[in-house]
Amino acid sequence: MSNVVLVGTQWGDEGKGKITDLIAGDFDYVVRYQGGNNAGHTVVHNGVSLALHLMPSGVMYENTVPVIGNGVVIDPAALVKEMTLLEQEGVSCKNLKISCNAHVIMPYHKDLDGADEKRLGKNSIGTTKRGIGPCYQDKAARKGIRVQDLMDEKIFRLKLEAALAQKNPILDKIYGLHTYTVDEIVEEYLPYARIMQRYMAETTQLLNDALRAGKSILFEGAQATMLDIDHGTYPYVTSSSCGAGGAAIGTGVGPMAIDKVIGIMKAYTTRVGGGPFPTEQRFPENGGTGEEAEVGELLCSVGHEYGVTTGRKRRCGWFDGVIAKYAVDVNGLTDIALTKLDVLSEFDTIKVCVAYEYEGKRYDYLPMQQSVLFHSQPIYVELPGWKGVDISGCRTFEELPENAQKYVNYLEEFSGARISMISVAPERDCTIIR
Ligand code: IMP
Repeated sequence: MSNVVLVGTQWGDEGKGKITDLIAGDFDYVVRYQGGNNAGHTVVHNGVSLALHLMPSGVMYENTVPVIGNGVVIDPAALVKEMTLLEQEGVSCKNLKISCNAHVIMPYHKDLDGADEKRLGKNSIGTTKRGIGPCYQDKAARKGIRVQDLMDEKIFRLKLEAALAQKNPILDKIYGLHTYTVDEIVEEYLPYARIMQRYMAETTQLLNDALRAGKSILFEGAQATMLDIDHGTYPYVTSSSCGAGGAAIGTGVGPMAIDKVIGIMKAYTTRVGGGPFPTEQRFPENGGTGEEAEVGELLCSVGHEYGVTTGRKRRCGWFDGVIAKYAVDVNGLTDIALTKLDVLSEFDTIKVCVAYEYEGKRYDYLPMQQSVLFHSQPIYVELPGWKGVDISGCRTFEELPENAQKYVNYLEEFSGARISMISVAPERDCTIIR
């Protein structure tokens, strides 16, 4: 088995969980390389639905080692809670490895995330308020606290003292929030540290040794290309490198070790939080009327488009081919896994955005300036649908209705990477492998 990166290609929630779950058991190691518990997907284990936020999907398989890489930010309370819930349902976390270099989310990171969103008002990013951005800020500013720092109380106290000397005045004077003492944070975090110590590892060495021994690694991306700090719709992004390039950065494995990059692409588009979304079909509460509102509501209800982490209703819209082409380039996609094709069985015709238009000019690629993306209008082609046909039983491409085949072929040709998997219903086996 080769080494594979799985990456979201839109604004997240493409159904990465199902595809990861489908293939994770084939790998020796499954590694999360960025993000934190802002991510979330559900897996079904012995008939019980379990939400994974921080834990790599490999935890569900006895012979797979789940690894939390150096690029991840860890909220210890969230991690320990997730591990406890998994163990209660009979999923063992004993194989877990946590990078000694991963950064730790502190209580003040969560406070600052919420307070900053409030300050931004109508310009807010719509973060998950899990403290992700402020933790990565401290990492980049070289003021962060890492997993290894928690293991030595003296070092932990010194680093916290330095951090609080800066954070407390910000919490108090800028946001009017409560401040922290070193003692109260140490008291809360040390019990978590004792648990995490059992799993802490030099994961870069571990993974490179594994590669030398011919083992296989699945790099499990969280969030998605358009939420990538460098390549997404900045500033309406998360604070990490979600794209395939992040897999090397967030694990310490060289890029040449990666054999395959699979992009997870939903057959339509969704996004949570603020920011540009050219093909959005706005809900009535966001100003949508008539057909636009109807399409938006239908995609949301049929696709169950509500966040696993926050429960928020996701904004919905047609497939954006411009973004698909961009995701193929930015990630070097070798394959696409097309998800939720069945949701489109509700429509007479289906639109695909092939370019944007702004002030009379056509854009076949992402415009250089985001203000153009914000105000541009999508140019659509309209393809015939397969309304009313239940495709959930199809297991080969040829079994799909002709118009569904044409839709898939169109997306494949337009985006420029092979669609090698098609998901036709939520269950694991409801997948066509081409
Ligand atoms: P943060 O990652 O909490 O800082 O949020 C930044 C942006 O990324 C917001 O628009 C969030 O809604 C979005 N975001 C973060 N995690 C996910 C995810 O797992 N799926 C979809 N959007 C996400």
